[in-house]
Amino acid sequence: MPYHSIFRSDLFAGQTIIVSGGGTGIGRATAHELASLGAHVILAARQLERLEAVQEEIIAAGGHASVFSCNIRQEEEVKALFDFALAERAAVHGLVNNAGGQFLSPAEMISNKGWHAVIETNLTGTFFMCREAFNRYMGENGGAIVNMLIEMWRGFPGMAHSAAARAGIENLSKTLAVEWARSGVRINSVAPGLIASSGLDRYPEAVRPLIDQIVHDIPMKRMGSGSEVAAAITFLLSPAASYISGESIRIDGGSSLWRKTWEVPEHKNAPRPFDGFEERR
Ligand code: ADE
Repeated sequence: MPYHSIFRSDLFAGQTIIVSGGGTGIGRATAHELASLGAHVILAARQLERLEAVQEEIIAAGGHASVFSCNIRQEEEVKALFDFALAERAAVHGLVNNAGGQFLSPAEMISNKGWHAVIETNLTGTFFMCREAFNRYMGENGGAIVNMLIEMWRGFPGMAHSAAARAGIENLSKTLAVEWARSGVRINSVAPGLIASSGLDRYPEAVRPLIDQIVHDIPMKRMGSGSEVAAAITFLLSPAASYISGESIRIDGGSSLWRKTWEVPEHKNAPRPFDGFEERR
């Protein structure tokens, strides 16, 4: 099953690139694309099973891939991932922080545990991965990092925790882009909108009509594909993006420019208009 990238087939020859969450969806497509362009990809996620399946696919297509089990929330496991990568490959030229996760919930129903799980996986996990990449290899040698956002530009009703975490990741990326420029490290982000991928299957059946409505509200009237996100990640890792750092690319069919995903019911609870000439108590 060869991957048909639009980029030059030896673009990443000799490079080692870690892709977290490489077993499914966007991560899998990205791993395939990078491997098809000559990179040795290291697939990292908590569960090895799906990673091994993707590794097999990549090897069958003539590429090179390794797998490593890693919970990005656990600092020691992230350190172990870089121990593995450097022992096996002696270099980490690129890092794709694709792993993450969230669940739909009204904000007022998110528990302490649920909140921390999402913040730690997405924001803290991404930070641990960036920091280890820098301290263990890129600080001395340069490199490129791509982080994963969601379409959180106007908030994300129903996913307060993930939107807060991803906004944090975007700001973290900008900070690191400046702090680590001295080492030749570039850090950028991609912000997918609604992508047709296995992640969607995790939402309950009751949410299906909402998803149909969201698709209707996307200016391009369709979902994106994992490959469309992978192509943007590949570009950001490539020399064509050598002068781009601290930037975020939206891959959302224009949906962040227009959307109506959260119906606010008719109500009469708006604060009454303020009038400075009116005496109020
Ligand atoms: N994918 C989703 N959550 C993850 C985690 N904590 N570590 C690695 N991959 C993940």
